[in-house]
Amino acid sequence: MTSQDPNRVLIFDTTLRDGEQSPGISLNTGEKLEIAQQLARLGVDVIEAGFPITSPGDFEAVQAIARNVDGPIIAGLARTHVADIDAAYEAVKDAERPRIHTFISTSDIHIEHQLQTTREDVKGQARAAVAHARQHVEDVEFSPMDATRADVEFTAEVCAIAVAEGATTINIPDTVGYTMPHEFTAYLERLYELVPGLREVTLSVHCHDDLGLAVANSFAGVLAGARQVECAVNGIGERAGNASLEEIAMLLHTRAPDVGLHTGIVTTEIARTSRLVSRLTGYAVQPNKAVVGRNAFAHESGIHQDGVLKERTTYEIMDARTVGLEGNDIVLGKHSGRHALKQALEELGFEVDGNALNQAFKRFKEIADRKKQVTAMDLEALVTDEMREDLDAFTFAWFDVEASSRRPPHATVGVRMPDGEERSGSFTGDGPVDAVFHAINAATGVDAKLREFRVDAVTSGRDALGEVSVVLELGGRPAAGQGVSTDIIEAAGRAYVRALSNARRRARLEAREEPVAATP
Ligand code: KIV
Ligand code: ZN
Repeated sequence: MTSQDPNRVLIFDTTLRDGEQSPGISLNTGEKLEIAQQLARLGVDVIEAGFPITSPGDFEAVQAIARNVDGPIIAGLARTHVADIDAAYEAVKDAERPRIHTFISTSDIHIEHQLQTTREDVKGQARAAVAHARQHVEDVEFSPMDATRADVEFTAEVCAIAVAEGATTINIPDTVGYTMPHEFTAYLERLYELVPGLREVTLSVHCHDDLGLAVANSFAGVLAGARQVECAVNGIGERAGNASLEEIAMLLHTRAPDVGLHTGIVTTEIARTSRLVSRLTGYAVQPNKAVVGRNAFAHESGIHQDGVLKERTTYEIMDARTVGLEGNDIVLGKHSGRHALKQALEELGFEVDGNALNQAFKRFKEIADRKKQVTAMDLEALVTDEMREDLDAFTFAWFDVEASSRRPPHATVGVRMPDGEERSGSFTGDGPVDAVFHAINAATGVDAKLREFRVDAVTSGRDALGEVSVVLELGGRPAAGQGVSTDIIEAAGRAYVRALSNARRRARLEAREEPVAATP
């Protein structure tokens, strides 16, 4: 492999590409940029910023990331088509270190049914694509898609071609999450035997979680010699998702004495990255999720609590501070001024100035009036919530709810439309939140149906900020959104309106897009 330190495992983050392909997720350019900046702080080696040919929005986001995010390699995905590779190049070319990632399937199932071509043609396409990409950039990654269900001999031939044409990374995807760790190890060992040039490039693995084995398979890949792991924050991605970045990073960190490998991940940034991705995608993190779930460091049974109180390591293999879940003690009160807020935000890594600072200060004051202490977690939730205001989206402007135990609740809401006009709507519903959601439908003139609703507290305490996640369905498509406020109804309204904006953005993108066949 090419990396100098043989024990260093590169972390290739695909949250913004494979992760963004999860149903219901639709991030705008500003949100993608915010996540990419945080991924850079987290210390990932490669950010796969998107699939530029798929839509002008994807292209623009990849280009913005390439131009503004320093540190990691910025990769753009491309099929083997010339137009895809050229679009990926145009989008990433301004990065300090651009990469083109091109792929084609090597499994017969995909070759016959999806690509409707032959093995010979696949070899030709791989050869031409890598050669073309190498004319643009030095750093080219090639993936034989659905490799683990493909004939290993044929996949080896294709990989050998890619290496001969100058690919610098060969990535082996378990596209449908089908393989098992011992099988994957054997597969990679066989590839090493069949493709001698594989030792001269970086071997990478990209595993999906359909059978819950994405992290185990990625780890098997690393033990077999891979030195790049493709993964996504909170494990988001197509279907059951990708290998979860935080689990891979903490596995290699925690078991380093035994495994002897390391990554460049700044582990104390893990929890924050997870929260940011969850808020911006609207995908809540399950409470028992390894490393970043709310209960990942909670001890319920008396015996466990007793043990941890006596000695933390009796029941904890990691320290919550190592992943940034504790130890952040910035606290502001209702008398804190704009300067203190700006400074606190800077400590958290947010550069907020001008109008954005005024807006954040206004929200901070509203919250500080209702809450005794505003903590780092509150600030982070507030700023992330505030930064999401998108000029081309609906905004939840105000609400009025009349609720009593004797009459069904009645809500009236004001929603600012993308063109700036404010419209109101009213509804009498089964509960106050139901009434607000229907009133929003009435104001915006859409007929969305609520599919999931969840309320979490940002911190502990009776005055904690509430964080609401909703998934709604519009025109047969899911869309997710999240909102934060000290008032649950307001948080719910914000979340619902965001999900509507995401659905609208997704529908508009799809109307402008050419359908991309064989999207992984
Ligand atoms: O799952 C897959 O095969 C992919 C490739 C593009 C790497 O996402
Ligand atoms: Zn994938």
